[in-house]
Amino acid sequence: MDIPVRRLASGDIDQLLELFDAVAAERIYIGTEPGYDREQKRRGFASRVDNDANPSFVAVDDGRVVGSTGVYDHAEFGPTIGMLIAKTHRRRGVGRAMMHALDEWALQHRVPALHLLVFPHNAPAIAFYRETGWTEVDRFERDVTRQTGEVWDTVLMRKSYA
Ligand SMILES: CC(C)(COP(=O)(O)OP(=O)(O)OC[C@H]1O[C@@H](n2cnc3c(N)ncnc32)[C@H](O)[C@@H]1OP(=O)(O)O)[C@@H](O)C(=O)NCCC(=O)NCCS
Repeated sequence: MDIPVRRLASGDIDQLLELFDAVAAERIYIGTEPGYDREQKRRGFASRVDNDANPSFVAVDDGRVVGSTGVYDHAEFGPTIGMLIAKTHRRRGVGRAMMHALDEWALQHRVPALHLLVFPHNAPAIAFYRETGWTEVDRFERDVTRQTGEVWDTVLMRKSYA
């Protein structure tokens, strides 16, 4: 069954924070780790509601937010995305559906390219992004310090629309 993807609404934000907490608690996929500033994150999500320049999209299954993606402005790379799907809903086409929403937005707004940063050990995400038209363009050594004290590289990926 298809899980619909739509623009983020204010009523989604509590559930989106819960989803974000759960993926942060996995500790291996996204930059944010538990203990992050939840109120700042809430304000960040709220600022994306009805925001066509920096939109967020959510996937909703039976009233529950199970996936999210959003576009933020990176100082160096320009429009840059993040994406996360609930553990229970991975590999069911939700990411692909959200990528379609991003593609439509990028084409509509004549955005020449989107970027993202991914940890090199995140093989599922790298496979997913390659499959959906992204390519690796750079690698930043020792880019992110984790709460354990480990320092991880990041890979910069790009999807062109021009
Ligand atoms: C990466 C992520 C967003 C992918 O979303 P998803 O909904 O699971 O992906 P989809 O089901 O739409 O997969 C589409 C295609 O991507 C590829 N793919 C997705 N997950 C994969 C995996 N674990 N291994 C290999 N290929 C994979 C496949 O080609 C898949 O098509 P198929 O299932 O028909 O073979 C999701 O796994 C996730 O949220 N992971 C945790 C958070 C994260 O890593 N976010 C990205 C940080 S940069």
